[in-house]
Amino acid sequence: MLKDSFGRTIDYVRLSVTDQCDLRCSYCLPKGFKDFQEPEHWLNFDELERVIRVFGELGTRRIRLTGGEPLVRKNLPQLAERLIKLPGIEDLSLSTNATRLDKLAPALHKAGISRINASLDTLNAERYKSITGGKLDKTLRGLLAAKEAGFHPIKINMVVMKDVNDDEVEDMVEFCIEHDFTLRFIETMPMGNTGRDASHQYVPLDEIRQRLAQRYALIDSVMAGGGPARYVKIAGTDLRIGFITPLSQHFCETCNRVRLSADGTLYTCLGQDNHYELAPLLRAGIGDDELKTHIIQAITEKPERHEFNDDPQKIVRFMSTTGG
Ligand code: 5AD
Ligand code: SF4
Repeated sequence: MLKDSFGRTIDYVRLSVTDQCDLRCSYCLPKGFKDFQEPEHWLNFDELERVIRVFGELGTRRIRLTGGEPLVRKNLPQLAERLIKLPGIEDLSLSTNATRLDKLAPALHKAGISRINASLDTLNAERYKSITGGKLDKTLRGLLAAKEAGFHPIKINMVVMKDVNDDEVEDMVEFCIEHDFTLRFIETMPMGNTGRDASHQYVPLDEIRQRLAQRYALIDSVMAGGGPARYVKIAGTDLRIGFITPLSQHFCETCNRVRLSADGTLYTCLGQDNHYELAPLLRAGIGDDELKTHIIQAITEKPERHEFNDDPQKIVRFMSTTGG
């Protein structure tokens, strides 16, 4: 088992398979942004499989495919099939913006991905266009296709922003009850200049919880799959609502994860600069044991916590680089 110097067991890798995205969410990427990495620098499927196999041998149990938008990467179901077969890997999940799920959901499900998290910040088509640059109806079709394909649970991630979408919290609750989705509210993190600007509109989620408590009976709940969300259930329904509060109540002491970016850089904290380039090592032909030594060293140096509150200027990279 991988343990860091604060006693946390690290058994979860978030694997960004591309930093590219077909949307431009205001809190993530600048409008018109094009300065993506060249695909030649990305780890290819053989390299990705090797790194995850080695992580599996070091005790990693769960992998989440992220981006950018992971479904922009060609042949993703084939990669999923290869990763889920690796010894030790028990759970393979996907974070997506859902724009391509209408086509890809059945193949992804068949490949062995069991769970999906999808971003959806609004149910209003005009707002969706203004927040993400994309088309709401395509995204909604994608979500329904995922349900149809058999994914369960499907978690909807809503980044709550004051005067942008905070008036839609109750509508989202009703939408998720109707479709049997799980709903998670997220506080806006100051990642890159986009996240920093958007974080001025950050809403402490306690406010949202109190607002919901006036309308619904909320019961404290838990949800399998670990993660930092704190859940409640709405009495009389199956709906679970998670609150992800990196700013108002950070959860670093239970952090169980590291992130590998598309170019093979290992980031040991979302809110710190610590990173380790694995690609040059792989391409220099190092053996598995040496690779393990590097990974163990990186995890030993995993920072204790982010500093989004104390030092919001710190993280210049966009969320799409590290993988959300
Ligand atoms: N703050 C909070 N959440 C963010 N995401 C992207 N950028 C930010 C940010 N600055 C979320 C997306 C998606 C997940 C992968 O990360 O909405 O749900
Ligand atoms: Fe794309 Fe996700 Fe970033 Fe939106 S938040 S631009 S969907 S990577």
